[in-house]
Amino acid sequence: MRRTKGNVIFYWDVLITFLTTYLAIVVPVGLIIGYRPEGFFLLLNLAASVCFIVDIVIHLNSYFLPDYVTEGERKLLRKRYIRRWFIIDLLSAIPFELIVLPENYFLLAAVLCTFRMLKVFRVLSFKANWEYRISMNPGILRLCFFFYFLVLFMHWIACGWLRLRTIPASADVLQEYIKALYWTTTTITTVGYGDIVPSQKSNIEMLYTMFVQFMGVGTYGYIIGNVANLISNIDQAKTRHRQRLDSVANFMKSKKIPKHLQERTYDYFNYLWATRKGYDHAAIMAELPESFKYEFALHLNKSIIEKVPMFKDAQPALVREIVICLRPCIYAPGDAICIYGEIGDRMYFINKGAVEVVSQDGKQQYAIIREGDFFGEIALILQHPRNATIRALEYCDLYSLDKESFDRVVSHYPEFEKSIQKMAQERMRQTEG
Ligand code: CMP
Repeated sequence: MRRTKGNVIFYWDVLITFLTTYLAIVVPVGLIIGYRPEGFFLLLNLAASVCFIVDIVIHLNSYFLPDYVTEGERKLLRKRYIRRWFIIDLLSAIPFELIVLPENYFLLAAVLCTFRMLKVFRVLSFKANWEYRISMNPGILRLCFFFYFLVLFMHWIACGWLRLRTIPASADVLQEYIKALYWTTTTITTVGYGDIVPSQKSNIEMLYTMFVQFMGVGTYGYIIGNVANLISNIDQAKTRHRQRLDSVANFMKSKKIPKHLQERTYDYFNYLWATRKGYDHAAIMAELPESFKYEFALHLNKSIIEKVPMFKDAQPALVREIVICLRPCIYAPGDAICIYGEIGDRMYFINKGAVEVVSQDGKQQYAIIREGDFFGEIALILQHPRNATIRALEYCDLYSLDKESFDRVVSHYPEFEKSIQKMAQERMRQTEG
């Protein structure tokens, strides 16, 4: 359900982005060539307005927020939405482009059409959610956003240029637009071939060209700076990871660690790189002030909240209390995570991977536990030594919850204690009898 909600937000944002982009492209063209949308385009424009209004209603009702967000936070986010985006969203939902104004009211029409396109800046606010959904390098996503706005910006500049130049009645509009876009590209990229130039008799054309040239210099600098930064950031993480691996390799060689153990270690580091890009979450968290840690933990452990069905019906306050205590850990295939008969001091939630529950001698398999499930609760809740051995079947991304935190949480939520106890007794029965 939570997963579905997350997907719905993503697809809704994609739809809003599509409609906003469509309007940002079509509305200025319509304004310049004096075209009023009809037929299919009219329907699309009206559909955009309806979706924008639905979007406002959704945000005012905080419909897309996860269930664990408290009422207080919802109110705060609603207030922030009203302050930052409400007016923009409302103005862009009104189909101003359908209003017919006389030619000498062009400036007013341009202002109204600008209102209609304002929602394009809302797309910027989707970035954070997309970073999480698409799991793309934030630097690359930032560049994608940058190029998206650059292309739109160039389109608007080309439309402005078209407006300044009088298009002959017999001219091919598409060709004139392409010429304007060509002029924009050569000017903004500071290439400036000079084959299309402002009229020396028109001050406004020359001023407009100078303005675009200035913007071009800034844009060019931004692109170069960001691309270089992005590449050096990617390299930085990789270099750090390689150095770490080299030092472990040297250590293993000098201590003559058996070959199979060395191979498992390399495998583990490769997995670390593939899943976490070499970042150690615990070390990063340790550097943060206490007040931030809470929010970080909520964000970092968001995926496990969405995956574990037990959290679905739990009270948001309980989920918060547990989530802050979860510690990520990784196990390689074949690792024994719990050993039969041991005194257990923590339980585990599976974020990724699968484990098997086996007997003391490892010959009998009782169950396979997968993503979204948990284990190790019997030792904590029934004060019983581990009643089975747990082995990782593949690389497992787990979250552990220590006994102290567990005891504290269950003492606050007896219902939660009962449901875990029921599950533990059921599992005990299956395994022992
Ligand atoms: P614990 O006894 O702390 O450590 C071993 C864990 O294996 C145990 O908690 C349960 O979480 C899990 N376990 C034991 N028996 C079963 C079973 N039949 N099915 C699924 N999980 C089990």
